[in-house]
Amino acid sequence: MLATVWIILLSSTLCKCLDNGLAKTPPMGWLSWERFRCNTDCVNDPDNCISEQLFQTMTDIVVADGYASVGYEYINIDDCWLEKHRSHDGKLVADRKRFPNGIKALSDYIHSRGLKFGIYEDYGNYTCAGYPGIIGYEEKDALQFADWNVDYVKLDGCYALPYDMDHGYSTFGRLLNSTGKSMVYSCSWPVYQIYAGIQPNYSAIQTHCNLWRNYDDIQDSWASVENIIDYYGNNQDVIAPNAGPGHWNDPDMLIIGNFGLSYEQAKTQFAIWSILAAPLLMSVDLRTIRPQFKHILQNRKIIAVDQDPLGIQGRRIYKHKGIEIWSRPIGPLYQNFYSYAIAFVNRRTDGTPSDISVTLKELGLINFSGYRVEDLYENVDYGVLYPNTKIKVKVNPSGVVMLKGEVQYPVDL
Ligand code: GLA
Repeated sequence: MLATVWIILLSSTLCKCLDNGLAKTPPMGWLSWERFRCNTDCVNDPDNCISEQLFQTMTDIVVADGYASVGYEYINIDDCWLEKHRSHDGKLVADRKRFPNGIKALSDYIHSRGLKFGIYEDYGNYTCAGYPGIIGYEEKDALQFADWNVDYVKLDGCYALPYDMDHGYSTFGRLLNSTGKSMVYSCSWPVYQIYAGIQPNYSAIQTHCNLWRNYDDIQDSWASVENIIDYYGNNQDVIAPNAGPGHWNDPDMLIIGNFGLSYEQAKTQFAIWSILAAPLLMSVDLRTIRPQFKHILQNRKIIAVDQDPLGIQGRRIYKHKGIEIWSRPIGPLYQNFYSYAIAFVNRRTDGTPSDISVTLKELGLINFSGYRVEDLYENVDYGVLYPNTKIKVKVNPSGVVMLKGEVQYPVDL
């Protein structure tokens, strides 16, 4: 008995992990960067500048327009919220004009609406947009975030040395933890190391961060989304196994509802992000989003795939002549047979839908008792199908068909 206690104590002291019990499923929320960038011009563009008003407005809409009720819960500030200099006693100060009531007041506002509050900083000397970074002030800043009742910290990696990140990111994670306030910790550690030609130590990263960026910033175009999809498909053997409850790969924000994606392409981004067990962070103007895009973002069935509690990241299982099939094992399980979410993606540009025919067996769905198959966008239930059943889907150019196959138990059970 004593030996067991010692072993437990020893392992908890040896594992200097983040272990904050958060992000058991990928975080969902709203993040300013992709859509609002570093617009600091509140004089000429008061409705779109990075300001407390913008975050309050988005908070209100997330609650009023049904986003909160399908799971979006974080309202996250990105870059450009700071004054260019710290205070005389070394504290971070929010821009006095754009956040006239300070960060704690904004945090309180968001919490009072039942949501959670996220903030952005950078491990280096400066944030990517040139505001003060945390280096040299790590402990002070961690305490400051706790004081502001921050629930989520995105720590970027501009103006920092990628070789220092193994130490720096893990240390800051521990500092956040030791404040006693649990904060989701979003890291950019691997992406900057990859850019510098360093092979990231993903086993360390997943013990210290709740999520991390692996690749390029998303931009407002289908080309950018495709590029990210390719990266996660081409590198899935290295990347996918690192995801699981509490630790996720982050292919970057959802750009659904902005200027660059068609309706079909927006559906594809949402489907693939859910297969990837990605954080669902919308970066869109929720004041003007068209209903069809809002509908995609609020698709409960696809959100349930993303949020599947098993937390297994899916993979690209087929890629040929512009047709891709992506698959993710999800619950429920029967013995060792999983249920699956399957996304059929048409990357072709010949302007007519492509037919894809495949048996369930070819998709890896081999349980003899079959699977209840439904279409997650069209709300069509195909009933119970079996491993030898051939299914045929018609996929629009740059679009997706997304199915779920729920494993069936033998009838005599
Ligand atoms: C980097 C990050 C982006 C965003 C900007 C802000 O490029 O990857 O997500 O936070 O910095 O400057």
